[in-house]
Amino acid sequence: MAKLNWGMIGGGKGSQIGPAHRLGAGLDGQFDFVAGALDHRADEGRAFAESLGIAPERAYGDWKEMLAGEKDRADRVDLVTVATPNATHFEITKAFLEHGFHVLCEKPMTMTVEEGEEIVKLARASGRICAVNYGYTGYSLVRHMRAMVARGDLGRIRLVKAEFAHGHHADAADAENPRVRWRYDPSQAGVSAQFADCGIHAMHLASFVAGQEVERLSADTVSCIESRVLEDDAMVNFRMSGGTVGRLWTSSIAIGRQHGLTLQVFGEKGGLRWAQEQPNQLYWMPLGQRLQVIERGEGNLSPEADRSSRVTVGHAEGMPLAFANIYSDLAEAIRAGKDGRAMDPAANLYPRAEDGLRSMAAVFAVAESGKQMGAWMDARPPMFR
Ligand code: NAI
Repeated sequence: MAKLNWGMIGGGKGSQIGPAHRLGAGLDGQFDFVAGALDHRADEGRAFAESLGIAPERAYGDWKEMLAGEKDRADRVDLVTVATPNATHFEITKAFLEHGFHVLCEKPMTMTVEEGEEIVKLARASGRICAVNYGYTGYSLVRHMRAMVARGDLGRIRLVKAEFAHGHHADAADAENPRVRWRYDPSQAGVSAQFADCGIHAMHLASFVAGQEVERLSADTVSCIESRVLEDDAMVNFRMSGGTVGRLWTSSIAIGRQHGLTLQVFGEKGGLRWAQEQPNQLYWMPLGQRLQVIERGEGNLSPEADRSSRVTVGHAEGMPLAFANIYSDLAEAIRAGKDGRAMDPAANLYPRAEDGLRSMAAVFAVAESGKQMGAWMDARPPMFR
């Protein structure tokens, strides 16, 4: 099977998320990393790309040069990952979609709801894939939770509880450090800091597993470090399209917590609990029975879980493998499109531009609700109301 060609924008040397994308895209041997504009400094970007094995003529100085260089090539990239800072996602994603490329964009997909709607419309009109990297949905046991909910193991879902609370911006003495300060500055971060950065992962995860969309929300947003304009902690209550109640806590001042992403799902017939820092165990409590621990890799869990597990049961699997599952889904979607066949339903799980747009609507609803002392807001983007 011929490999697909893959390119990346952002993710330069020393970046946080670049290595996870390169590991994820390369893991199953489906993508060849052939082009990149990896850094905001042209020379550093070219040199780093070449050091990763990219041919000099495809080691680009910036994304516009990459678009110009790739668009007419017979072997142009099949998929472009956009892993630059947030404010650049919209224009880069839009430009590549307009030229017929499939795109995987980092979250948040855009800075406004209007931009999000434009991307959704463009992706739909062009028939190209625009995926958004809610990469934690790639964990095998997250996919199994979704499958258990969908096949009715829990009955009707009454309540979901999601958390993404860490303590990495808790030091008041470090709050004015320029590397931290910009995140809480509206002129650079937009209308929300912690919710837009982490809360949207937790909300998307709740929606992915429950198989429902968030419709309304009420938010209590606070800046625990007083010099901050934007929130460093938020508690968000929400209601979902199937009637499920949602509760979400996100924080960057929760000292002692590391990544802090967890999900609990409570149905009529049982409850599930999963924590991203121990991703290989899923706790399942069927009503009236004993607690059971479901291990990743047990086999015969669900087609979605089995397809997204690579290492034998009992051995640790981690976050780059979750990203690898997003890439594996995208490879299957691109190949199915090329072959003119239906894609494997167990791979049809990658988050879409629609998910990126819903998150932007939630970000603006949280910001507004916070200003109005928790008033309930419509959390849906106008085009989905
Ligand atoms: P970072 O600041 O560590 O790295 C950004 C990289 O992009 C740098 O190498 C920089 O030189 C490069 N860059 C900046 N502007 C560029 C441009 N115009 N063209 C080409 N390269 C450019 O940032 P980090 O933490 O890696 O975040 C990048 C994106 O990934 C953000 O949108 C962030 O929200 C998202 N992210 C997503 C995560 C997830 O779990 N899905 C986790 C962490 C970050």
